[in-house]
Amino acid sequence: MANLKTNYMGIELKNPIIMGANALSGDLDFVKEQEKNGIAAVVYKTIFEQDVQLENLEIDVNLEEYEERHAEMTSILPKIDDFGPESRILKLKEFKKNISIPVIASLNAINKSSWIEYAKQIEKTGVDAIEINLFYSPESFEKTSSEIEEEQIDIMRELKKVIEIPVSVKLSPYYTNCLNMIKRFEEVGIDGFLLFNKFIEPEINIEDKSFKNKLNISGSSENRHSLKFIGTSYKNIKADFCAGTGVITSEDIIKMILVGASAVQVVSSIYKDNKNAVRKLLNGLSEWMDKNNYKSIEDFQGKLAKCNIENPYSYNLAQYLDNSKNSTHILEEHNNI
Ligand SMILES: Cc1cc2nc3c(=O)[nH]c(=O)nc-3n(C[C@H](O)[C@H](O)[C@H](O)COP(=O)(O)O)c2cc1C
Repeated sequence: MANLKTNYMGIELKNPIIMGANALSGDLDFVKEQEKNGIAAVVYKTIFEQDVQLENLEIDVNLEEYEERHAEMTSILPKIDDFGPESRILKLKEFKKNISIPVIASLNAINKSSWIEYAKQIEKTGVDAIEINLFYSPESFEKTSSEIEEEQIDIMRELKKVIEIPVSVKLSPYYTNCLNMIKRFEEVGIDGFLLFNKFIEPEINIEDKSFKNKLNISGSSENRHSLKFIGTSYKNIKADFCAGTGVITSEDIIKMILVGASAVQVVSSIYKDNKNAVRKLLNGLSEWMDKNNYKSIEDFQGKLAKCNIENPYSYNLAQYLDNSKNSTHILEEHNNI
């Protein structure tokens, strides 16, 4: 029977499947179920500074209203300490105590001082690593890409000076040159990369002409970007790679390991089939390894990375040059020619 053990940023994992950050990854019962199903680690749902700020704002408004109208009633309001980062960090600490698989915390902050302060508090909970969610959605026409990138590198440099546990970054796929960003993050000491994050985009209902802000469940075709950039980075960068977005089937996991990933994160596949997804993924991976006579993950990790193949043509292919053959195939496939 194949040995599925792997190592991500120095953390021993019994297999390469990590449950990615999502609304349910902070739910102890749900994660315990997934633990029974075989998940190797979990990324606890992100602690967002923005959430904390919004909550504080609501508390301030509520307090003002109560103080104006019923000064004597303020004592029945929840204690301020029940909110803010402290309550979230306490919950994370409690969660970590009750879970036997490795727990990776996830953080997204706004101010530089908060990034550092929250990360320090998170480290004290005993989690195994911190995943930095560098979610940045452009809203300004003025701020340049290099300003944003400098800020991100600067925050990670400062954060790595004070945090001892491994730190990974969950990157956006939209940098002009994400390879350069990966290299620069590695230079400031980042231990792992999750390629890539998936953003919530606006969607419109044309019947009632309103916006529908729905989270989209991924499909496998969304993982090609991760495949390309993990495969290109493998061995050129010392840090470990974890594949995210569109890892839905065991074939997707195999492909990601073949290009060099040490682990994968799954969310959509668990939402699609929360009772069976992880077992099916693990069975598919083991069966394929047995069939191909691979005894361990290392036996095939990186075999198809850019540095290990003779002709890297597929990695460089980005333009629609000389694609007449492909177009004919697509026409035939979709039109029963
Ligand atoms: C309901 C839901 C909640 C999510 N919450 C978070 C979150 O708190 N932090 C985060 O970094 N990503 C969050 N994500 C994004 C996932 O971690 C992941 O990057 C994304 O779903 C793509 O992976 P998938 O293709 O396996 O779904 C969330 C996704 C979903 C579907």
